This record gives sequence, C-alpha cells and structure tokens, in this order.
Amino acid sequence: MRMYHVVEIEEIHEEAKDVRTFLFRDSSEPKPGQFYMIWLPGVDEFPMSISHIGEVKGFTVKKIGAGTARMHELREGDKLWIRGPYGRGFEIIPGRALVVGGGSGMATLAPLIEMLPNADIVIAARTRDELLFLERFRERKPWIATDDGSLGFKGFATQLAENLLQDREYDVIYTCGPEPMMLAMVNLARKYSVGIQASLERYMKCGIGICDSCSINGYRVCVDGPVFHAEELFSMTELGKVRRAPSGRKEVMR
Ligand SMILES: Cc1cc2nc3c(=O)[nH]c(=O)nc-3n(C[C@H](O)[C@H](O)[C@H](O)COP(=O)(O)OP(=O)(O)OC[C@H]3O[C@@H](n4cnc5c(N)ncnc54)[C@H](O)[C@@H]3O)c2cc1C
Ligand code: FES
Repeated sequence: MRMYHVVEIEEIHEEAKDVRTFLFRDSSEPKPGQFYMIWLPGVDEFPMSISHIGEVKGFTVKKIGAGTARMHELREGDKLWIRGPYGRGFEIIPGRALVVGGGSGMATLAPLIEMLPNADIVIAARTRDELLFLERFRERKPWIATDDGSLGFKGFATQLAENLLQDREYDVIYTCGPEPMMLAMVNLARKYSVGIQASLERYMKCGIGICDSCSINGYRVCVDGPVFHAEELFSMTELGKVRRAPSGRKEVMR
C-alpha cells in the first residue's frame, strides 16, 4: 500500500460550473485513467482521477458533497494529502478512436485525449455551463452535445456518438461519465462491433481492494478497474442499474 504524501496546490483554475482544477507537483507517475485517494483531515477521503499528467499534475473536481465542497474552499499554497496512483488505467489501442466524455467524466479522459492526437472527441453535459475543457481541446474541434441544446447538438452524448458511429469507422471507444451513459455506450459498442474501454466511478472507501465497497458483479473497481474493457463490461449486469450505497447496501440507480 502506498503511503500518503503531501502536495502543495500551486494553481487553481475555474473550469466550468462548480468544477475547479487543482495543480500540484510531485514525483508520482500516473497513467491516464488512474486515480488517487485525496484525504482532507477531519472531513473526508475520496477518489479523484488524474486530469493533468506531467511535471505539473492536476485534479479536476466537481463540487458534489461535503468533501468536494471543502476542496473547493482550498486556496493556492494549501496542502493536500494524497495516496496513489491506483488502479488500471486506459490501454492505448492502435487505430481510430472515439472518445466520449459526459460531465466531469472529461476530467478522467483529458490526459488520454492528449495522447491520442487523431481521436474524435465528444464533450457532453446537461447544459453549456457544465461543458468541461472546451478551451483545452478547442484546437481538436470536439463534437459538443448538451441535453438542453444550449451549445452544439441538442440531445445526449450517446445520440451524437451513434451518428458518428454510423458515418465513420472506429477501432475503439473510450468513455467516462454518468453510468447510464456508459451503459448506453457499451450497448453501442456491441451494436457497431467496436472495442470499448469505460472508466467506472463507484463509491470507494479503501481504494486498494480490501473493503469491497466498489464492487460491481464481482469486480472491484479500485483494483480491477477503474477502466474496464468490452468483454468485462458486457458481463456486468449491474452496470447503469444497481450501485452500492456508502453502507455497502445495493440500491437501484435512478
Ligand atoms: C475512480 C474514480 C475517479 C473519480 N474521478 C473524479 C474526477 O476526476 N472528478 C470529479 O469531480 N469526481 C471524480 N470522482 C467522483 C468523486 O469521487 C465523488 O464526487 C466524491 O467522492 C464525492 O465526495 P463528497 O464528499 O463531495 O460527496 P458525498 O457527500 O460523499 O457524496 C455525494 C455523491 O457522490 C458519491 N460518492 C461519494 N463518495 C464517493 C466515493 N468515495 N467514490 C465514488 N462516489 C462517491 C455518492 O454516491 C453520492 O451520490 C471519481 C470517482 C471515482 C470512483
Ligand atoms: S474501494 Fe475498497 S475494495 Fe475498492
């Protein structure tokens, strides 16, 4: 088990509504799709994907509950206790790629996109204020979808992705976002016979395979994933349907 190390927040950037990036330096060497556990003493510990890789690294955090709200109160110069990198990241497959990110799922996909200069990119959110990394990937001319039509295609990321799958040949889809969206992408991958890798977000306590809080159909997302491949995803009957509450109890997703 990796021990905590302390990092200092060097810069904070506003990215979208309720989303901030926290940049720091350390000597760890994460791969796209891997995550860290961030500990805010006296508040919470939670998993966060690495959104910027290199000498300067970053976490891009959407304010959801108590832990992430406290993180949004931090200022440049404040400290973070982190452990990681953990988990299985994305595997780069040769060929033409389609990357589909919904909401804060774009944080997980961003370092991967930077390694795939020819990939087609779909950035989606409920509304234009929530679209993440439009500026970061402007030169890549991403396809944009908003549920309310406030920018780009009016409709779900999956509808826009299906239009692309009908028009173009792809070898692999990479996706991260709300689980029902990822389930729909897995079904599209099967329909169009394209490989897929999806990064799942489940409730995590230990992050290292001990507590089982993150399990889905016998897989532990923290160590077997968070990135899963087509055959594993096809076998997950709980994907997009059943999740575990913080108590460990299974509950139906709404
Ligand atoms: C591998 C992984 C990578 C992630 N990467 C990012 C990222 O890059 N950017 C980002 O904004 N968010 C990311 N998340 C989600 C992030 O961990 C949760 O938003 C955060 O834990 C919420 O904590 P909270 O204390 O603010 O909210 P809480 O009040 O604890 O909970 C609010 C909601 O978040 C969910 N949640 C709470 N804790 C966890 C947890 N430990 N794991 C998963 N879901 C949880 C709960 O089910 C609840 O619906 C990631 C999650 C996982 C599993
Ligand atoms: S978070 Fe404990 S087993 Fe995955």
